[in-house]
Amino acid sequence: METSSDDSSGEAPRMTTTSRHYFGGDSSQLDHHFSVDIIENVEEEYGMFVWPCSIVLSEYVWQQRFRFQGISVLELGAGTSLPGIVAAKVGSDVILTDKSDNSEILSNMRSICDQNEVNCQILGLNWGEWDSNIFDLHPKIILGADVLYDTAAKKELDHNQAYLRA
Ligand SMILES: C[S@@+](CC[C@H](N)C(=O)[O-])C[C@H]1O[C@@H](n2cnc3c(N)ncnc32)[C@H](O)[C@@H]1O
Repeated sequence: METSSDDSSGEAPRMTTTSRHYFGGDSSQLDHHFSVDIIENVEEEYGMFVWPCSIVLSEYVWQQRFRFQGISVLELGAGTSLPGIVAAKVGSDVILTDKSDNSEILSNMRSICDQNEVNCQILGLNWGEWDSNIFDLHPKIILGADVLYDTAAKKELDHNQAYLRA
């Protein structure tokens, strides 16, 4: 894990960390099939660091990797996008989504994709909002990690999933 803070801009320094996640063999790092580097900022913004469910879900994607090959996968509230990146690594066509008005999260997603050499589509998608783009996506699998922390958002998330499956 690498950590740095850059205060040369004159703004308050921010703690940026890159965490490395291994997928593959279980006996030593040498057995691992690939690793994913995630750029994180430990701050109040929920989408800028890796939440625990995301680690569990990405392990599930790895374990089920044969189901994920050659299909379209969309991640809702992806934040730092670990499950979606793993899906892309095992051969899915991936769309990563998060709040459309949060350019910091969306831009961090792009940096993470570049760092891991995966070509995912990045899309602003707000839960519960109608957007004609949604109807054209047709993902085969919808991923979401730690997106049900606010029960008030459940209905909106359900709506999104219904549109995406339409
Ligand atoms: C608890 S974080 C989980 C992030 C990531 N899935 C993970 O597990 O590391 C919740 C994510 O949902 C996003 N989110 C919250 N409300 C949203 C909304 N109304 N529309 C779209 N995304 C939203 C946040 O920006 C954040 O990235």
